[in-house]
Amino acid sequence: MSDVVLGIETSCDETSAAVLVRDGTGPELASLVILSQDVHAVFGGVVPELASRAHLQAIGPVVDRALAEAGVRLDAVDAVAVTAGPGLIGSLLVGVCYAKALAAAGGKTLIGVHHLEGHVFAPTLEDPDLAPPFVALIASGGHTLLLDVPEWGIYRMLGETRDDAAGEAFDKVASMLELGYPGGPAIERLAKQGTDRIDLPRPMLGQGFDFSFSGLKTAVLHKVRGTSDLEAERADMAASFQAAVFDVLTAKAAAALEHTGYDTVVLGGGVACSRTLASVMTDRLQGLARVAVANPRLNADNAAMIARAGWFHLERGEQSDLYLDAQARLPWPGLERAPDFSPSRG
Ligand code: KG4
Ligand code: ZN
Repeated sequence: MSDVVLGIETSCDETSAAVLVRDGTGPELASLVILSQDVHAVFGGVVPELASRAHLQAIGPVVDRALAEAGVRLDAVDAVAVTAGPGLIGSLLVGVCYAKALAAAGGKTLIGVHHLEGHVFAPTLEDPDLAPPFVALIASGGHTLLLDVPEWGIYRMLGETRDDAAGEAFDKVASMLELGYPGGPAIERLAKQGTDRIDLPRPMLGQGFDFSFSGLKTAVLHKVRGTSDLEAERADMAASFQAAVFDVLTAKAAAALEHTGYDTVVLGGGVACSRTLASVMTDRLQGLARVAVANPRLNADNAAMIARAGWFHLERGEQSDLYLDAQARLPWPGLERAPDFSPSRG
């Protein structure tokens, strides 16, 4: 049994470590340290080579700081949970090698975690009673997934994006609007000053559970090119684009709830950092379902969610050996197509 789990996350541009300790029967978050790399802002996106170098410099101090904040010595750590994928291979390798070294040198249990499973577990850190069955909508910079989660460890894919991820669309539209990187928070901020008055498509609305954001992004590009005064229209474009994305996410989540008969939807991934999304979703699902969403710190990439997903697997008696490898396209254990999946539904 693991009573103290150290989590490590380095899949993209955040170097993060967290400590979970047993409190009664369940895990409690004792510390969480997230170091966001700022080297990428000037390039308008994450530069993989720079990300791995920055992880290499930061990983030791970030882990030490997480242990210190938790008041836990390294030799009291029972297990190390680390993101094994998916993500940037050079970045993942830093975390995986560090975790393996800690496990090998200190005789600790090692568990490799799928990054997206971490996102599904994030809200349970604040709401320990949250449990399946539920619908999960995971929207990040790399993925947009709608899942039927009948129990922990089983993830039935209802739908996914056919092109851009929702967060990626936010980042690209932010770049068109000259708002910098990352785009999501900048668009959310600016949208508060604008109105949803620009006519934009709601791609694949009413057409199954899959998503598509590439056409919407192009539609915004045409509006940007077509305006003679971007300065005056920027906030309305941000508000209209955000409304279009959230309309689609909300409608598909509602359809998935109807399809499964569940009464809870879990939002996760970087896009779920948006308070606007949480409130739009809560409003539209009023009386139908409860919306479970963690605070933004736990929805952005962080090691607490990785430690929590690792905790679940450790409790089931699972562990990784020292051959654990980082994989840029790691298959998700437990992910399956819904048996009754049909593209015409939803
Ligand atoms: O999960 P995450 O931190 O990293 C990945 O695993 O991809 O997600 C990052 C994504 C970025 O595309 C970012 O623009 C988006 O989440 N994001 C948001 C907001 N905050 C972050 N999108 C919309 N509104 C936000 N407030
Ligand atoms: Zn993520």
